[in-house]
Amino acid sequence: MFSARSIPVSDRRLGVVVGPDWSRAGSSKLRALYRRAQDEHWQPENDVDWPATIHFGRTVPVRSLLEAQATVLEPFASHGSDLWSQFRWELQAWLVCQSYHGEQAALSGAACLTAVLTDSDARLAAAAQVADEARHVLAFQLYISRYLQRPYGLAPSLNRVLQQALADADWSYSLLGMQVMVEGLADAVFRMGEHTFMDPVIRSVLRRVAADEARHVAFGTMLLREHCREDCEAEVRRREDFILTMAQSISQRFLLEDLWERLDVDADSGRRFAQEAPLMLEFRRLAFSKVVSILRVIGLLTPAVIDGLCKLGLARRDTGADT
Ligand SMILES: [Fe+2]
Ligand SMILES: [Fe+2]
Repeated sequence: MFSARSIPVSDRRLGVVVGPDWSRAGSSKLRALYRRAQDEHWQPENDVDWPATIHFGRTVPVRSLLEAQATVLEPFASHGSDLWSQFRWELQAWLVCQSYHGEQAALSGAACLTAVLTDSDARLAAAAQVADEARHVLAFQLYISRYLQRPYGLAPSLNRVLQQALADADWSYSLLGMQVMVEGLADAVFRMGEHTFMDPVIRSVLRRVAADEARHVAFGTMLLREHCREDCEAEVRRREDFILTMAQSISQRFLLEDLWERLDVDADSGRRFAQEAPLMLEFRRLAFSKVVSILRVIGLLTPAVIDGLCKLGLARRDTGADT
């Protein structure tokens, strides 16, 4: 029932205002985020149509030049178009399951934020996020239990990412890990999924979840932009290391190791495809594009960060760094 890890309620290093400032009651941007969360509330069971089947595994058409190019690369070239359709369905199932696990971690992270933040409106926004993340857990859980016969467990690489995000004793690093790296990634993947996933149920879920995630990203950005402004040189270096370590784990995650096993495809051939196919390179860069834009807003898109992200294939060389 309870995690062995205690909530560090004594941690007060976020540097936000203690207690409510009565003179600005109802006017802060954080309060506005809380209000928007109330207005945009939705119910997974009632607001999404849940048909009896989504026809998981049916043949799907190739829709773009990049996709057509991917089908003639190994491991697909020697297996025909059936394997490509299977891959698309399994990739969707894998992303949905990893999202479910990520939502569980986001729920824990947001709940801890309510205990460590000291600004009244920030606490309201964090509490609204707890309710949002609980709704996301339920939505993905309903989808998985109704339509996926063989759900994917928590990938070790994702587990590492989430551990890194939540483990640091300084909660500004947990914010950077969860609200910027994990939430930013989820936001971009959900928006891509809205257009590329293959059944209307998951697209409908993702549209609603993505609207909530945009608020969470805005919340994290507001807190960190303020907090990181005071960083000394050594702190910036530490944040750069943290960002690049997490990015490394995220790029490992995209090698899709458990997916190749499921498709009965040679693991080396699958990994090579995930690493080198132009379609997958583009997918990774798009998935990371939101993280890059948030890092720019909070002043952490430094030359070292851009260089590291480019080496990992998560950003383009022409992405301008903050100096
Ligand atoms: Fe979420
Ligand atoms: Fe979130």
